[in-house]
Amino acid sequence: MTERTLAIVKPDGVIQKKVGEIIRRIERKGYDIIDIKMVQADEALLRAHYAELADRPFFPGLMHYMMEHPVVAIVVEGDNVIKGWRTLMGLTNPTEAAPGTIRGDFGRDWPGDEVRNVVHGSDSPESAQHEIKLWFPELNN
Ligand code: PPS
Repeated sequence: MTERTLAIVKPDGVIQKKVGEIIRRIERKGYDIIDIKMVQADEALLRAHYAELADRPFFPGLMHYMMEHPVVAIVVEGDNVIKGWRTLMGLTNPTEAAPGTIRGDFGRDWPGDEVRNVVHGSDSPESAQHEIKLWFPELNN
């Protein structure tokens, strides 16, 4: 089934100059890039994006991390891309993410309880729709 997801190259991915490599992996898998832009995320956008995590102990660190540097937001389309992109990303924790996945290859555990895991991907069709609207309000189809 053709669907869309929101992929984000997080600050550490941009700083490490992995944007090209990540786009290469998206295209190698046969997915289409529908839209792409650099965004300096602000608190309002991130609070809306991560609304369900506001009570988690790692939330302040996550907000700080995501505002540290501009990110690259990408609307990706393809067959079962929501699940497929998360497979390309690998597990949340870079220590547990398999080699060959983006997080396994480029993610870093950080001192303390923080993880820097390079990329984001929507976790369901509902969150993909919500997140694409948030990050790409100008995209109307
Ligand atoms: S949970 O517990 O299942 O709700 O968490 P999970 O789905 O694995 O993660 C939700 C998002 O929070 C990020 N995350 C963290 N960021 C920084 N530090 C720590 N310790 C941490 N734990 C989880 C995780 O990467 C998810 O964000 P996205 O942007 O979706 O990757």
